[in-house]
Amino acid sequence: MAGLLEGKRLLVTGVITDASIAFHVARTAQEQGAQVVLTGFGRMKLVERIAARLPEPAPVLELDVQNSEQLDSLAQRVGEHVDGLDGVLHSIAFAPESCLGGEFLNAPWEDVSTAIQVSAYSLKSLAMACRPLLHPGSSIVGMDFDNRQAWPAYDWMGVAKSTLESVCRYLARDLGPDGIRVNLVAAGPVRTMAARSIPGFAAFEDAWDGRAPLGWDIDDPTPVAHTCCAVLSDWLPATTGSMIWADGGFHAVGV
Ligand SMILES: NC(=O)c1ccc[n+]([C@@H]2O[C@H](COP(=O)([O-])OP(=O)(O)OC[C@H]3O[C@@H](n4cnc5c(N)ncnc54)[C@H](O)[C@@H]3O)[C@@H](O)[C@H]2O)c1
Repeated sequence: MAGLLEGKRLLVTGVITDASIAFHVARTAQEQGAQVVLTGFGRMKLVERIAARLPEPAPVLELDVQNSEQLDSLAQRVGEHVDGLDGVLHSIAFAPESCLGGEFLNAPWEDVSTAIQVSAYSLKSLAMACRPLLHPGSSIVGMDFDNRQAWPAYDWMGVAKSTLESVCRYLARDLGPDGIRVNLVAAGPVRTMAARSIPGFAAFEDAWDGRAPLGWDIDDPTPVAHTCCAVLSDWLPATTGSMIWADGGFHAVGV
């Protein structure tokens, strides 16, 4: 049987370790027949070493979403490996220390603006950078942590996620006429480098498994990766501007 993503050409951002959600999306996508091009930020040698652990070789391009030259040249650089893109995964977030861990009232705007640029505005930057390679049916997927309520410790990263949720809806509005879908996968907590940088992350870990109706394993990124691959596939053709939860059902229940 052909894989879910047979013949699809995907750009996957956000691999930094083999725990990265993006790594598991790239792995699953390749297993499902996709051709994957990766982008990495900063530590390129490390990203290349991690990429070598994927089932198939994947080219790695440098992309710092705060660097306009790298964004401007992205379509041309991706175009050296694939002649178009059927899907793009945005799996990028960063907030300076002051923005996380309970100092919400004291974080300075310079730090907050970095968190919002890297974690939310960049969905628009990446979509526009890839636009020349996209076509009707292409799917853009971003990674969300449902921020419809305030969390312990998540602070300005949470505000950046609310912004991302709104950016997703406006992108869906403006790219829909071109047949391009834009959605977010709202994941439950997964133990990654980004998660470890959140002081107080343990509180999420403890709460999730007990409350999620389906249960939850913070060491298993596979359910999140499968959901991303489903949204990247042709099987949600009428879905755009949406949050799709891969959280064991945590969001649906109270205490
Ligand atoms: N781990 C979780 O519990 C969880 C839950 C929900 C959503 N998410 C989201 O999933 C996404 C991926 O995070 P992860 O948990 O896999 O952690 P991760 O640390 O593996 O990935 C974060 C990625 O962001 C990249 N990045 C940071 N600044 C960048 C910049 N300026 N330009 C380009 N890339 C940059 C890093 O290089 C890294 O690859 C993030 O959006 C995160 O908020 C994570």
